[in-house]
Amino acid sequence: MNKAKYTQEVPEDRGEVLKIIQKEKKPLKIMILGGVDSGKTTLTVFLANELLSQGFRVAIVDSDVGQKGILPPALISLGFPDSIFTSMEEIKPIKHYFVGTITPNQFFGEMVTGVKLLADEAIKRGADVVIVDTTGLVHGSGVELKRMKIELVRPDLILALQRKDELEDILRPFEDRTRIIRLAISENAKLHTREERRQIRKEKWKRYFENSREYILDLKRLHISGTMMFQGKEISEEEKGLLESLFRWLVFHGRKIAGKYFVVKADAGSFPRNFDRNSMNAVDFENLSNLIVGLIDKKGFCLGLGILKLINFKELKAHVLTPLDENELKNAVEIRFGRIRVREDGEELGLLSRDAL
Ligand SMILES: Nc1ncnc2c1ncn2[C@@H]1O[C@H](COP(=O)(O)OP(=O)(O)OP(=O)(O)O)[C@@H](O)[C@H]1O
Ligand SMILES: [Mg+2]
Repeated sequence: MNKAKYTQEVPEDRGEVLKIIQKEKKPLKIMILGGVDSGKTTLTVFLANELLSQGFRVAIVDSDVGQKGILPPALISLGFPDSIFTSMEEIKPIKHYFVGTITPNQFFGEMVTGVKLLADEAIKRGADVVIVDTTGLVHGSGVELKRMKIELVRPDLILALQRKDELEDILRPFEDRTRIIRLAISENAKLHTREERRQIRKEKWKRYFENSREYILDLKRLHISGTMMFQGKEISEEEKGLLESLFRWLVFHGRKIAGKYFVVKADAGSFPRNFDRNSMNAVDFENLSNLIVGLIDKKGFCLGLGILKLINFKELKAHVLTPLDENELKNAVEIRFGRIRVREDGEELGLLSRDAL
């Protein structure tokens, strides 16, 4: 199931934009901005196809973590379509950057780093035109996120899809510095509910994990990032026993990080447990199951996603379901923890807060 498809039924102003893109000096970086369901991806697909058929080498950086075209969700991905395509899902990604969740909130660092690295990579690999598709978060903190993306990536051209003036807060500071073209939203643009978006993602997760198998990864041989779970020092058996009797927990794993405890635990029985969150962070063992993790190569790019099934803290082994094959996995030097829990049938089980882990 796909939202955005290749269509030539587009507002007239698209023709003008194409002419401008053809004439501009190459390589040319284009950033597409617009609110939710404003037609950003449809515009990306349209421009990419038209430019491809004119013989340009086109790269797409898909940074819409929540409604990715290029699979899978929760990553920022770079692809070079090499022939006319109907939807972004047909594009084979050549590099990914890990974000680990489906909303940019709390993950601005990952978002801007990923977009910058992949846009640079696109130029390095000889793109004439790089098109950056973005999320529909354009209000509140979304204004800051877009500012940082623009400051870092320095697009030559911003294409702003707006109904009225909803992007002006983002565009104003760049008016004198960057070429901006404001475009109309197609009258065929259709709004999708949260549930429809979730269903679309479900299909995508499912397709991505379709031919996965479970590997047991040795955590002693991998760097661990995206979590504080292995920072600091392991707590002593005595401290563990103390925490277990104090809170009636089963403690699987505990660290002391700059004077603060971090524990992975399960509750034994239900009774109110109050603890000072300034001195302790506790995560439920079950929240680690079905958590999305990234398998990262030595350059910091993401080889692919995995679903964490279980961590055996005694042996420091992680059971991870992934479509990567053994050879691809050999290039992983790091495992990075995300903040969304997903089952391999595509069902999303929930988001964790950034500071939960
Ligand atoms: N020119 C068009 N012709 C036909 N349908 C369109 C056109 N532009 C957008 N749509 C439809 O409107 C919906 C939203 O478009 P699209 O997915 O491109 O928006 P988006 O801004 O990328 O959304 P998101 O915020 O989810 O990333 C889709 O169902 C798409 O097919
Ligand atoms: Mg989109």
